[in-house]
Amino acid sequence: MAMNEARFLQACRRQPVDCTPAWFMRQAGRYLPEYRAIRARHSLLEICAQPELAAEVTLQPVRALGVDAAILFADILLPLMPMGIQLEFAAGEGPVIHNPVRTAADVAALRPVEPREALGHVLEAVRLVRRALDGKTPLIGFAGAPFTLASYLVEGGSSRNYVKTKQMMYGDPHAWRALLDKLARVVADYLVAQVEAGAQAIQLFDSWVGCLSPDDYRRYVLPHSQFILRQVSATGAPVIHFGTDTATLLPLMKEAGGDVIGLDWRTPLDQGWARLGYNVAVQGNLDPAALFAPRSELERRVRDILHQAAGRPGHIFNLGHGLLPETPVDNVKAVVEMVHEFSGRSRFPERDLESQPSMPEVG
Ligand code: CP3
Repeated sequence: MAMNEARFLQACRRQPVDCTPAWFMRQAGRYLPEYRAIRARHSLLEICAQPELAAEVTLQPVRALGVDAAILFADILLPLMPMGIQLEFAAGEGPVIHNPVRTAADVAALRPVEPREALGHVLEAVRLVRRALDGKTPLIGFAGAPFTLASYLVEGGSSRNYVKTKQMMYGDPHAWRALLDKLARVVADYLVAQVEAGAQAIQLFDSWVGCLSPDDYRRYVLPHSQFILRQVSATGAPVIHFGTDTATLLPLMKEAGGDVIGLDWRTPLDQGWARLGYNVAVQGNLDPAALFAPRSELERRVRDILHQAAGRPGHIFNLGHGLLPETPVDNVKAVVEMVHEFSGRSRFPERDLESQPSMPEVG
């Protein structure tokens, strides 16, 4: 069991830790039998709407895996519903939006949301989880970043090429700016409300932003993400800024904000961190598919990531993206144990994390 609330929060702030903290995006979900048991009786949206169920599902991976952080069970698309979006999670299809946003009039029709009223059930789940965790494991709150949310709104669901999204971005930049502005205000309020309810760190998911060039990111996205990240940072809670396929965007994502920048497996962790600079923490970056590899190969990859992090303060171990539905639970648990064991100070008492730039024992 994770018993050290400080480890994850210290790593977010690039303070020395007893060993590298580990948690996983999508650590609650279908690969866990106890999640499937609840999902057999409730839809995803029902679980999100009932604070007791959301809290229970949030706690499942903390019990099962011994991870160093809990992440609130919710979905990035939830805040869109009170804005007037008809959202459905269709079996096997992912999210479907029945009234996509394509025109300036569609943008104008989106309702601004007061999260303390419209998303009170999520905030109540935050309070329940904090109480249950009882200071033993920190709780991460989260929201979707404006670009990723807009991509769902404009496309009407998941997308491969983001053609409709880019059509609006390039063809009607005023409508685009109005849309991202509206989303950024709601998300910023929502995240600040999560911190007030008890979330101890925040992750901003810009999962699909990697489809943009650096120029487009700077022009069409950065100011809106920056608006959110500034407001959340002002609360004092550390912020993780996450995206995938972001090799060329990393410096701009850092400029937009965040104490921790997420790295996916396409960028070697050492190269990504060197590009970002060591005055920011990093999170990542095991390939989620590596959890399907033989144990010896999985171990080699975990060691390799820790070796690249080189014992520098400010590494949070995670995947490069979320856990996949069929992932063997034993392998996920084994990764947490490996990370703790291979990075632990108790195993290398001679190593001083602050003064030693490399970690030759590992790898
Ligand atoms: O990480 C966690 O354990 C917390 C819970 C969480 C969910 N969604 C629950 C969920 C989090 C952090 C999210 C974020 C989310 N949702 C993102 C950003 C992270 C990422 O993966 O890039 C995105 C893009 C979404 C939108 C979304 N929600 C999609 C595309 C899907 C369908 C994909 C699928 O696996 O079916 C969802 C549904 C969803 N949200 C599930 C879970 C556990 C699976 C659905 C189920 O249980 O039926």
